[in-house]
Amino acid sequence: MKKTILGIAIILLISALAAIAVLNTSSTPPITELAKNIPAKTDYLSQKVIPDTDLPPQGTRSLFDHIIAQHNGLPYPFEKLIALLKEQSPQNTDPITLLIPHGRSLLKGQADDKHPRIVVAADFEQGNAPAGLGLKTNGLLFLGFVENAHEIEVLSYNEAAGRFEFQLVQNYCEGCVPRIVYARRAICTTCHQGGTPIFSQRPWNETNGQQSTAAAIAAARGNNLAYQSVALQQPLANSERFDQLTDVGNFYHVTQRLWLDGCGLDGNQCRRQMLKLALQYADNAGGFDANSAESQSLKQLQAKNFPKEGIAVPESDLLNRDPIGEKQGVKGWLRSLVTRDIKFGEGAKDNEDLSEFDKLPPLRKEVDPLTIRAPKQVLTAQQIDGVYGLARFFSDADLKSLVQANGNRWTNVVAKVQGLPDEVFAAKPFSRVVVMQALLGQKRDYCCLSTAEMSPPVVSGIPPLTIKKLPQLQPFADYCFACHRGNPAQRLNFMAGDTEEQVLANIQAKKEIRDALDWERYEGTEKASKLMPPRDAIQYQKLKQADEKARQQMRDTVPSLFDF
Ligand code: HEC
Ligand code: HEC
Repeated sequence: MKKTILGIAIILLISALAAIAVLNTSSTPPITELAKNIPAKTDYLSQKVIPDTDLPPQGTRSLFDHIIAQHNGLPYPFEKLIALLKEQSPQNTDPITLLIPHGRSLLKGQADDKHPRIVVAADFEQGNAPAGLGLKTNGLLFLGFVENAHEIEVLSYNEAAGRFEFQLVQNYCEGCVPRIVYARRAICTTCHQGGTPIFSQRPWNETNGQQSTAAAIAAARGNNLAYQSVALQQPLANSERFDQLTDVGNFYHVTQRLWLDGCGLDGNQCRRQMLKLALQYADNAGGFDANSAESQSLKQLQAKNFPKEGIAVPESDLLNRDPIGEKQGVKGWLRSLVTRDIKFGEGAKDNEDLSEFDKLPPLRKEVDPLTIRAPKQVLTAQQIDGVYGLARFFSDADLKSLVQANGNRWTNVVAKVQGLPDEVFAAKPFSRVVVMQALLGQKRDYCCLSTAEMSPPVVSGIPPLTIKKLPQLQPFADYCFACHRGNPAQRLNFMAGDTEEQVLANIQAKKEIRDALDWERYEGTEKASKLMPPRDAIQYQKLKQADEKARQQMRDTVPSLFDF
């Protein structure tokens, strides 16, 4: 009798192991396969109007680049970047931040409890000024930082191009020369399948919104002090808000498709109707009737060109995963027999390191972000979600500005849509700024549109400058490149250049360098703040400790005005 029970137990155990082994082997194809950019079979208007190139379309840039360019370059360390976002918010509120020690991102092997991944979501709207529209960031700007990978991943919206940009800040470490580059989109979209942000679902066990995850971080760090200014324990509300903001971001993309593909190339009337309803909805969501005659009219207009197969809302939610819970109980023990943990430092060291990523133990298919996810929903011409999506593009301040500019009556605002020129509704990406300008009847500045003052965008994979022929460049590399090479602000990018000769020529053309390095002359004067490197930078400390000659040599490299 006892023998049979034991026999059954063994059989059960073996079949459980086999089942788990099957689960593990039937995982998603490797990322090296998935990242091969296979051209889409479909041929939508939106694909022509919003290209899928790695670099942003000509004359357009990411929100991140605009913000960095306007604040004189990339702050270091990461907590200063977080602080920069905080300073931009009208109430000086912190962005949403979370710590993820054992996540599912491309750099998961480089994070651990001691140095968890930090994700940041900006979450504010500025007010409008008489001459300009305020910055809007909610659902439009996200960061992911893994300290040990020296890399920040950036996902931010491009207002003029109507798409999210995928960027990396590489070599982000103390005293290093960081590079802000546009990533290979095909890599990012293996997991960010809609070209948009993604996040796990409730109860977000991977995040420090959960007590057990926060406790593991505190234990590994040996204290309760904030990490890079992020508190080790966050309220679960932060995880929830982060999730919401990724969903909001995801729907910006869907809205562009509804605006373009849902209305079609000749769909100006359809787009006009969509905007009219969006403004009604924005003013009074509760009183909005999705079956009114006006709404029906939009459905009819949509029916003309709406893709037969519908418009898919990409699934931006990943199933919750519980890295701590997975190890507990009988199931956890069984799983541990067939899988191994990721050891710290394994896997991709940066975003180009795909084959290393593939060597990591696979995740179960249902929680693997690489697994192709079915759409959240497929929208048809009989649905008017484009209306709700468009309404989100406007800030609260926009609605106030609109009603003020139109005799304080909302019906006037809506009526104005009817009179706008046809070109506002041409088959181009929807732009909040363009539409606001049209509705206000005047040009309003926006922080984040013009690229005239910006240095050219850079793709990833270009090797950093190696100094061989012109050794006089070395001190500039050591003490200046971090801020004056690859700076998105054109005026501060004066050490740019693809070759050593070009870099030298650019440096020599910047006469102000001589003065900026003349510490003796300007220290203690009102020009002291112009001395370089800035006093709060690590490069200043290093140059101070270096041989006096380094600074003199740099000054000598730049001919003075009296050299003739
Ligand atoms: C192997 C899958 C995978 C790949 C490839 C990937 N990501 Fe992510 N990414 C994730 C997951 C999962 C999250 C959410 C949870 C987290 O951050 O751990 C995320 C989150 C982010 C976030 C925070 C905002 C958000 O969407 O939640 C940014 C920014 C980001 N990724 C940028 C990038 C960039 C840029 C690339 C390409 C260079 C990239 N990612 C490639 C899986 C991936
Ligand atoms: C940590 C970042 C950082 C480092 C390192 C740095 N700079 Fe600067 N530099 C700046 C910023 C920011 C400004 C703009 C200051 C302003 O406009 O108020 C600037 C401005 C300048 C200007 C004036 C440019 C103009 O046209 O107004 C010169 C010249 C300059 N830096 C030279 C140097 C040199 C030479 C080095 C290396 C020895 C150096 N900088 C290192 C951040 C840096």
